[in-house]
Amino acid sequence: MRIVAFNGSPRTGGNTELLLAEALKPLREAGHDVRVFKLNTLDCKPCQDCGGCSKTGICIQKDSMTEIYDAIRESDRIILASPIFFHSLSAQAKAMVDRCQAFWCEKYLLKKVIPAGPQGRKGLLLLVGGMKKDEGRTCAEAVAKSFFRTVSVPEHESLFFGGIDAKGDIQKHPTALKEAREAGKRLGE
Ligand SMILES: Cc1cc2nc3c(=O)[nH]c(=O)nc-3n(C[C@H](O)[C@H](O)[C@H](O)COP(=O)(O)O)c2cc1C
Repeated sequence: MRIVAFNGSPRTGGNTELLLAEALKPLREAGHDVRVFKLNTLDCKPCQDCGGCSKTGICIQKDSMTEIYDAIRESDRIILASPIFFHSLSAQAKAMVDRCQAFWCEKYLLKKVIPAGPQGRKGLLLLVGGMKKDEGRTCAEAVAKSFFRTVSVPEHESLFFGGIDAKGDIQKHPTALKEAREAGKRLGE
């Protein structure tokens, strides 16, 4: 299967990256085709609300999203991993999500279904936040759900770990890495 993963953290070796790496382990071991987009290193400009995609389903901006659109279209499984920033996804992740307005137009305005492969399309959401409270999780999960449904992922699993702030904190969590590996394994089934 083709697995596409988005890392929304700007921090190299940060908690999101470590968590995502664990989730990808069983998928790589099973021989799936895994592709990771580290959004902070790419050129994904924000949506300009120009209305171009409402007529064609195609974004007029030509940047790293061109490659991402193709990768999403060809994917069987999508992982969205992000730190919580100001109660939501990181700006890097949100910019990519907003640019999926082109898929939204294709699906809901142009009434074209974005076809999934024979194994359907499933998703996994990985979130880390410095706070233990649930507000960030609630907001980020709502954004992520909207993203997944737009790119024709009818079901996804979510993992959230709060109280994870300093770089590498996720490695001290008693179950997080194991939970990510198990979720990755389920995603590949
Ligand atoms: C700009 C910014 C905003 C943040 N806002 C929140 C927040 O609203 N809620 C929260 O729980 N943590 C917040 N944090 C903390 C990060 O979610 C936390 O440090 C996380 O572990 C970073 O993950 P990373 O190492 O993958 O980048 C914020 C951090 C930054 C840099």
